[in-house]
Amino acid sequence: MNKFFDFIISHSKIYGFIYPSSDIYGGINAVYDYGHYGVGLKNNIKKYWWKSMTQLHENIIGIDTSILMNTNVWVASGHIKKFNELFIDNKDSNKRYRPDLLIKNYVDKNILNDSVRKNDILKRLLYYLENNKLLKINKLISELNIKDEISKTKNWTRIRFINMMFKIYNESEDIYLRPETAQGIFCNFNNVQKSNRMKIPFGIAQIGKSFRNEIIARQFLFRLREFEQMEMQFFILPKEEKIWYEYWKKIRLQWHLNLNLGKNLYKLYNHKNLAHYESIGVDIKFNFPFGLKELEGIHSRRDFDLKRHELFSKKKLRYFIKDSKKNIIPYVIETSLGLDRMFLAVLSSSLKKEKIKNNKFRIVLKIPTFLSPIKAAIFPLVKKNNLPKIAKDIFNNLKIKYPLIYDYKESIGKLYRRQDAIGTPLCFTIDYNTIETNTITVRYRDTMKQKRIHIKEICNTIEKVTSIENILNKISV
Ligand code: GAP
Repeated sequence: MNKFFDFIISHSKIYGFIYPSSDIYGGINAVYDYGHYGVGLKNNIKKYWWKSMTQLHENIIGIDTSILMNTNVWVASGHIKKFNELFIDNKDSNKRYRPDLLIKNYVDKNILNDSVRKNDILKRLLYYLENNKLLKINKLISELNIKDEISKTKNWTRIRFINMMFKIYNESEDIYLRPETAQGIFCNFNNVQKSNRMKIPFGIAQIGKSFRNEIIARQFLFRLREFEQMEMQFFILPKEEKIWYEYWKKIRLQWHLNLNLGKNLYKLYNHKNLAHYESIGVDIKFNFPFGLKELEGIHSRRDFDLKRHELFSKKKLRYFIKDSKKNIIPYVIETSLGLDRMFLAVLSSSLKKEKIKNNKFRIVLKIPTFLSPIKAAIFPLVKKNNLPKIAKDIFNNLKIKYPLIYDYKESIGKLYRRQDAIGTPLCFTIDYNTIETNTITVRYRDTMKQKRIHIKEICNTIEKVTSIENILNKISV
């Protein structure tokens, strides 16, 4: 891990965004809790996604399906057979690794200048992976003399497969925690299509928890064992696969770019190793503090899932086309974004250490203002001469409309710093002039500029600076 990444993690904890789960017991690997400001930010990201998908697209319907599903769902979807990951343990440190990453990381670190050797090793690795030659991968690890970074030994187990779904204990049957929200959508295809009288092309969108028994889970919110997905399955005519795949690629990238986190932070990457359900796929990668990694996936799943569910459920999952009088199984274009990953992308690209006056620094979270968990803070300049009461009255009048903070516990400079650190776009200060002129000082987070406005303008100022409409207006569908 790097220093900046460590800083993000500690900032998240100190300012109430993210806490390690079961912190008092030393935590649990790759599971985190969201604090007050974390929930606020997360909910605002959800709102942006949900509105963009279901409110701006009249042909996309929302749903919220259960985490537990009939076990046959996972047989049909291929997750029981194919949702596996390779792993290897070091017997001395008891640490678990993905062998392909162990080799790739070793090569990246140790074989810098010999590109021929490097390519040869990676080629061999790919061949062994594609042909399931696990013993050969074990041999390659020995040949390269790869040691565990923790125990410093080469005492490795044999490489094996592990299924990434969590199985929960139940006396009568195996029950799994869902590893993707998508299957709840596929299983409700008929219900949604009929109850909403949907005509192809149409989509079903869902936000919900998923669970995966990740082997390498040491990257904070990036790879979790319990996480949230924002997925949309778009049902189309098979002949329109290419059109809709390109459409959703464009729309989803634009959704990210509208946030203004930095155009250069994103890269599209066409899938080379396809998941068992997809026929084409692309990742929207994001430059996290630990490198360019997958943020969102857009896949064509064709008729894979509906066909499999027809086969296993013995129920027809079809769409009737009036013109040709044919019942077809639609193709599906899927967009799948991890909410926690999105949260990390916003946080890591917005947290800045900035030089200000007198060689001092400030920590400021320059998140898009409509995502800020708190829209504005209201302070009395001093705790006397009725100023706290005026400030509190303003707070009480506006708190129904916006999430606000009323604070007086520190000096004004420290109050500003605290709001900077949690990303509050506006601070309003009530001072002696307020009593005479009904004006207050507004201070802007990003520029630190201040100006006086009338009390009556506070509401409009908050609306203008923080409204989600500003960004939704940019989305053309
Ligand atoms: N329904 C398709 C699907 O689940 P995926 O590429 O496995 O595809 C989609 O996952 C998205 O879910 C990823 O792009 C990522 O944002 C998020 N995601 C997947 N595994 C995750 C994990 N262990 N922790 C956090 N987010 C994860």
